Amino acid sequence: MTDDRGLRELLDRLSAEAGSDYDNPYTAFAWPPALPGDEYWFSPELLSVHGTEYADELSDEQLCALSRWESVNFCSLNVHGIRDLLIEVMRRVHTPGFEVPSEFFHHLVGEENEHMWLFAGFCLRYGGRIYPDEKLRPPSAGEDPALEDFLVFARILLFEQIVGHYNVRLAADTRLHPTIRRLNRIHHRDESRHIAFGARLVRLLWERLTESALDEDGRRAAGRHLSQYLRATMASFYNPAAYRDTGLADGSGLRKRLLDHPARQAAHAQVLHKATDFLHGIGVPVTV
Ligand SMILES: [Fe+2]
Ligand SMILES: [Fe+2]
Repeated sequence: MTDDRGLRELLDRLSAEAGSDYDNPYTAFAWPPALPGDEYWFSPELLSVHGTEYADELSDEQLCALSRWESVNFCSLNVHGIRDLLIEVMRRVHTPGFEVPSEFFHHLVGEENEHMWLFAGFCLRYGGRIYPDEKLRPPSAGEDPALEDFLVFARILLFEQIVGHYNVRLAADTRLHPTIRRLNRIHHRDESRHIAFGARLVRLLWERLTESALDEDGRRAAGRHLSQYLRATMASFYNPAAYRDTGLADGSGLRKRLLDHPARQAAHAQVLHKATDFLHGIGVPVTV
């Protein structure tokens, strides 16, 4: 499935870039002993309450506190997303069908291991916790291994595109501490390679599927599966535990009210537009 010449050329280029771009975060990343408790750790425009009356009800101090816990939540989401990704990539490296991308998988696994270390380090140092993974997973879409491969790499790509939306904005936000900006910049530098690879691979896997056995029902089921995944991923930005740590009452109720809020639905559409444009472009029917 992966003897595509374009894919080979892309992988050669990305592997070379991964090598020349490398600096070792274990030694190079500077962790200040603490981050200022009276500054934003997450851009106010990216907060889960942004654009709603709930944001207007919060004082500047409360918004600042929420930004600290939503920053810890964002890093926690990354830790869990990377764990899932590593498990799935490791299941496939050097197995039949993945001969061509296996060399690049080594770069990807090495980089993701570093990313997980960075995100976990941020959570534990500055938040004293990694929020547990509460995301509901969509049920498996069936027994067909080719379909499963497509869905796995599609979910990885979608996750990276969503995180990328936040990374780009957080890295550019001059209100944030340099450590937060740097973490997001480093992450996005590696992720732009993963996203270029993922888009190519997912497109290929989908083409192979539709050329072979996948009928209209199968196409719609794949679309439903990925739509659910996108919704569940966006919902994980609304964490009752982060609301509780901020000192807000009824975190579960607030989460529900925010998830139903039209301003938040519009915000999700913005975050997801690259992901949904990509899927529509290759012919996967998703709705979020
Ligand atoms: Fe990553
Ligand atoms: Fe990645």
